[in-house]
Formats: sequence, C-alpha cells, structure tokens
Amino acid sequence: MAKPYPLNPKSLIEAAQKTRNKAYAPYSKFKVGAALLGKSGKIYTGCNVENASYGLACCAERSAVFKALSEGEREFRAIAIVSDSPEPTAPCGACRQVLNEFAPDISVIMPGKKRTIKTTLKKLLPFAFGPKSLK
Ligand code: THU
Repeated sequence: MAKPYPLNPKSLIEAAQKTRNKAYAPYSKFKVGAALLGKSGKIYTGCNVENASYGLACCAERSAVFKALSEGEREFRAIAIVSDSPEPTAPCGACRQVLNEFAPDISVIMPGKKRTIKTTLKKLLPFAFGPKSLK
C-alpha cells in the first residue's frame, strides 16, 4: 500500500472539487465539497446536504467525517474544503468542534481563487474543548 505521507494537497483538493458537484444546496446555492485524508491514506469525501427545514443542513466537512467514521477510520491527517467563492472557505464552528474530537492535529487546506490558506485546526480552534476536557 502506498505510504499516506507525504500528503499530496493537490489530490485532496481535486477530490473535494469533484465531490462539490454532488452538493445538495437548493436553498443557499452555496455548494461545498470536502476531502478528508485518513491515517490509512484513504480519502473520504463529503458535500453539504441541505433540507427544507433549513436548520437541518449538514456541512460538507461533517459529511466527510461521518462517512469516514462509519467506515471505521478514526484518525485523520488533513482536510481540504472547496466552494466557488473567491476567498478560501473556512470550516464553521460546529465542524471545527467535530474535527477536534477525532483529529485535533489535523491540517486544514482552504483553496480560494485568489489564494490558498494552509493552516491547522489548532490555529482555527484554540483552547478547544475535547475528550480530554472531561477527564
Ligand atoms: N457550509 C459547508 O458545507 N461548509 C462550510 O465550511 C461552510 C458552510 C454549507 C452549509 C450550508 O449548506 C451552506 O454552506 C451555506 O451556509
């Protein structure tokens, strides 16, 4: 099996872009795709899925995390998030918290038309509340 490292951000971004086409976003019209790299080297993709009851929308990032978890992967290295907005699309607060549960050290790649931001969840969610906080 190919070594999961070094991370190839290009293939992660491409996977997120492809999945974005599957987004169900008839209300916001804001289609998002995410691609999550598991410790195994496997990539899990997700798109946003909205609902006529607006508050039930699920973001692309959480779709990818839940898909990966339900397939047995529990540790993650990186996530790429794409929309077609000119600026990079950052994960919402709820998605940051869900990512923190399983991958506090994950890299976050946010490509935009003008610039790409590569950062970490640690920087996006400082002083996070997580599993260790309950001990
Ligand atoms: N959305 C995502 O899927 N990920 C983000 O990082 C930001 C927001 C979705 C939720 C909703 O379906 C739409 O984008 C507009 O907020």
